[in-house]
Amino acid sequence: MRWLAVDETSVPAGSAWLSDREREVSERQRLTKRRQEWLLRRYAMKRAAAVALGRGAAIGGLEALNDPSGAPYILLDGSPVPIAVSVSDRAGLAVALVTSERHGAAGSIGIDVELVESRSDGFIRDFLTAPEQLWTLRTTLGRDVAANLLWSAKEAALKVLRVGLRADTRTVDVTVRGETPADGWRPLSVAGAGGVVLPGWWRRDGDFLITVVTRDAADPPTRMPGGVDPAHVTAAHSWLDNPLA
Ligand SMILES: CC(C)(COP(=O)(O)OP(=O)(O)OC[C@H]1O[C@@H](n2cnc3c(N)ncnc32)[C@H](O)[C@@H]1OP(=O)(O)O)[C@@H](O)C(=O)NCCC(=O)NCCS
Repeated sequence: MRWLAVDETSVPAGSAWLSDREREVSERQRLTKRRQEWLLRRYAMKRAAAVALGRGAAIGGLEALNDPSGAPYILLDGSPVPIAVSVSDRAGLAVALVTSERHGAAGSIGIDVELVESRSDGFIRDFLTAPEQLWTLRTTLGRDVAANLLWSAKEAALKVLRVGLRADTRTVDVTVRGETPADGWRPLSVAGAGGVVLPGWWRRDGDFLITVVTRDAADPPTRMPGGVDPAHVTAAHSWLDNPLA
């Protein structure tokens, strides 16, 4: 598995880098925030797919579409490619995760990025399981890192399960393990219905938390060349300057 991050300043201007289908979806989005985030995620997926396909930074011919569940997939010149992709964005940063389909069917990977931000007691009570709530009180990571990390791991897991937030976030239970970081990644696991346990990894880069969850055990993802280092990205909310696209 490999990952790549882009920030909103690197997204190409105009729409020439989008396919006709992508342009249609983009133009349907009237809210600047939604449109910018959607474009940022497209750009992250295309950049990561281009590297994975040995095309360097050349994103021409690549399309990032969604299946009916919302899960993303990549086409090259209109044809499927043997890679699986997942993507997430938060506050002007998008991260894309790709893996060769040899290592599992599409949809077997999930990535999520969150900001370390204040979360209310209501958030912790309503969205976290009882063991998770206890952990937020006990961990030396601190309450806000813990709450956002658990939330992020849940979203990544719900992407692997292909349900997203259609599912109650308390149907999956996250355990953050204490092992030493491997290249910045630390292990976690997510238990779901029917005894399923999904392995994963998390890292903190500056204000951002990134989690990766997979269906099968996998080494932590390696960072692709190109892209930005999330540790050097300042959380941005530029859509506030112009809320309607
Ligand atoms: C998956 C989900 C939890 C992510 O929400 P989020 O934290 O706001 O956004 P993130 O930036 O982390 O992730 C968004 C990406 O998740 C992916 N995604 C969406 N639904 C997914 C699913 N069911 N399975 C796997 N990945 C999914 C998409 O790639 C999406 O980006 P894109 O639409 O630009 O391709 C949320 O989109 C969700 O609950 N989706 C399912 C419900 C829904 O409304 N689906 C729309 C059907 S078209």
